[in-house]
Amino acid sequence: MDSEKDVSRRAVLCGLAVLTLGLIPEKAIAASGVKVLANGKVEITLSKNPALKKVGGVVQFSNSQGLKIALVRVGKGANEYRALNLSCTHEGTNVVRSGSKWVCPNHRAEFATGGEVKVGPAKANLVTIPIKSSTSKVIVG
Ligand code: FES
Repeated sequence: MDSEKDVSRRAVLCGLAVLTLGLIPEKAIAASGVKVLANGKVEITLSKNPALKKVGGVVQFSNSQGLKIALVRVGKGANEYRALNLSCTHEGTNVVRSGSKWVCPNHRAEFATGGEVKVGPAKANLVTIPIKSSTSKVIVG
C-alpha cells in the first residue's frame, strides 16, 4: 500500500515537474513497425516509421524490460542511426523530447538529439544501445 502511494506521488510530482518546466512531450510514437522479438531485442521497420527518413528524426518505444528507448537518425547514410537509453545519466529520470533536444524534468539537464549532454547537472551523454541495421530494419538491443 505504501509503495502504491509512493509511486502515485512520484507520478504526480513528475507530471507537475513537466508542467512547471513547460515541457510538453511529443506525441507518443505509434507502435506501428516496432516489434519486440523473442530474444528481447526490438525490431524497427524503417518503411513504417517515416520520421526516420530525415536526419534528427526520432522514434520512441520501450523494450521488453520497459526501458524507454529512442532510435535517432544521426546522419544521411543508410546505417546512421543511434539508439539511446532515455534514462537521464544524472539520476535516472526518463528524459522527454522538447523541440530538438531531450530535457530531464527532474533537474533540467539537457541533451542534444543524438544524446550528447549540453546542460548539467548530468555530466555524461545518454547511454547508447547497440544496434544492427539494414536498408529495411534496425534491430535494437
Ligand atoms: S535526474 Fe536528470 S538532471 Fe537529475
